Amino acid sequence: MKTVFSLSDLRTARLSFKGTVGLVATMGYLHEGHLSLIRQAKMDCEHVIVTIFVNPTQFGPNEDLSNYPRDMEHDLSLISPLGVDMVWNPSPEIMYPPGYQTWVQVEAITRPLEGALRPGHFKGVATVVTKLFNATQPDKAYFGQKDAQQAAVIRQMTRDLNYPIEIVVCPTVRESDGLAMSSRNNYLEGADRKAATILFRALSAAKEIYEAGERNAEKLRGKMKEVLESEPRAQPQYVSCADYDTLEEMAVIKGKALLSMAVFFGQTRLIDNFVLG
Ligand code: PAF
Repeated sequence: MKTVFSLSDLRTARLSFKGTVGLVATMGYLHEGHLSLIRQAKMDCEHVIVTIFVNPTQFGPNEDLSNYPRDMEHDLSLISPLGVDMVWNPSPEIMYPPGYQTWVQVEAITRPLEGALRPGHFKGVATVVTKLFNATQPDKAYFGQKDAQQAAVIRQMTRDLNYPIEIVVCPTVRESDGLAMSSRNNYLEGADRKAATILFRALSAAKEIYEAGERNAEKLRGKMKEVLESEPRAQPQYVSCADYDTLEEMAVIKGKALLSMAVFFGQTRLIDNFVLG
């Protein structure tokens, strides 16, 4: 496994790859969720590139960029047994040199949910993913279902910009108690870690009434809120039952739906979702 830092080293190595290339883009501090993406890429593609870059432009002014957990050595030790061809770890100066002024802005699908609460977040994500696609030229790129809106934004952008890249969305990997794996789980202490299973329990309760035949979206939102309210440590930011493709809130569920939520535990903000239908 080759670890490269500069753009020219990445390009030279990329040119030597014959056959299909899979990209797993990460911000590092890898967990089982990332490793599942790498394993899937490894199964599908002849070569796999993993990028590790904590992208400053997707963090808001009050978000956790400087505290974002980093451990390159540990990341490389997790990746190296998986048969990855190359890890690219560019510096912020490579990705955003002085005078940088080009942005990728995806429109309607970035407005609700995370986009409404984290202005500029998806502009940063779409821009960095565009740059990672351009630099690594993958045939397939792998993202987790846990960041459902991010996956939808990247799918839209890939279509709109005519990238010949297949976007593969892999299932959320969970702890044994249901908590979705996330680098942010490391911020949860004691009681909050235990309380955080309420997201999975709220989603499961809504799914249960859906499976029993409920199609009134407000009833599903109400069920998720009711379960979240039973946990005093949880401070919900939003609870949504939206159309899977457009992410617009629904009145009556038709076709595929996305149940999703963002919940604070102290300073730590967690998101999770289920797909219905
Ligand atoms: O999901 C992430 O880790 C990031 O948002 C991504 C896609 C690597 C872009 O920085």
